[in-house]
Amino acid sequence: MAENPVLQIVIASTRPGRAGLPVSQWVEKQAREHGAFDVEVVDLAEAGLPVLDEPHHPRLRKYEHAHTKAWSATVDRADAFVFVMPEYNHSFNGALKNAIDFLFFEWQHKPVGTVSYGGVGAGIRAVQALKPVLAALSVPVMVEAVPIPFVHTMIEGEGDDRTFVPIPEIAAGVVPMLDALARWVPAGRVLRGA
Ligand SMILES: Cc1cc2nc3c(=O)[nH]c(=O)nc-3n(C[C@H](O)[C@H](O)[C@H](O)COP(=O)(O)O)c2cc1C
Repeated sequence: MAENPVLQIVIASTRPGRAGLPVSQWVEKQAREHGAFDVEVVDLAEAGLPVLDEPHHPRLRKYEHAHTKAWSATVDRADAFVFVMPEYNHSFNGALKNAIDFLFFEWQHKPVGTVSYGGVGAGIRAVQALKPVLAALSVPVMVEAVPIPFVHTMIEGEGDDRTFVPIPEIAAGVVPMLDALARWVPAGRVLRGA
């Protein structure tokens, strides 16, 4: 394979002050050090998608709005994803569902790893809720995952200077997840005809 596959780290939370930002910065560093991927960060807060406003099913790729065309071009260039995702009300957050729903083929056959977080449940209910949604898009979700319980106890500093400092047991999960994504990428490319 001549070029490294593109891994997009998707920051799912769009809230001001989100825990997702320092967590994603830690994931980005781990992914760059891993070395198997060209790493991009995709921030749903910056993507600025409205609630789905396209008239046609995304399978048709007849997008009318500039924000959809830009989102399509972004996701299109990825080979794999890590979703850095909070748990909201025992599920994943609405901004992530909306961002998924905007597209179809751009996601298809591209493996997803999850870094989930919340309170005692570590975002695991959010990941379980995500799985049938991604199954509808033929997107495999890695068993190797990074669930983070009590995420706020592992964030040091204030404001823009916050740093996510995971306990070793949590940090140990990220390389197996990235390895799994790297193993799936060639199969995904074959299935996509890429
Ligand atoms: C609307 C909302 C619902 C939440 N529901 C849950 C929940 O069901 N389970 C949980 O563990 N944490 C829940 N939390 C706490 C979040 O996990 C915690 O606030 C986390 O920081 C949210 O991620 P974010 O800061 O990146 O947006 C909820 C937070 C919000 C804002």
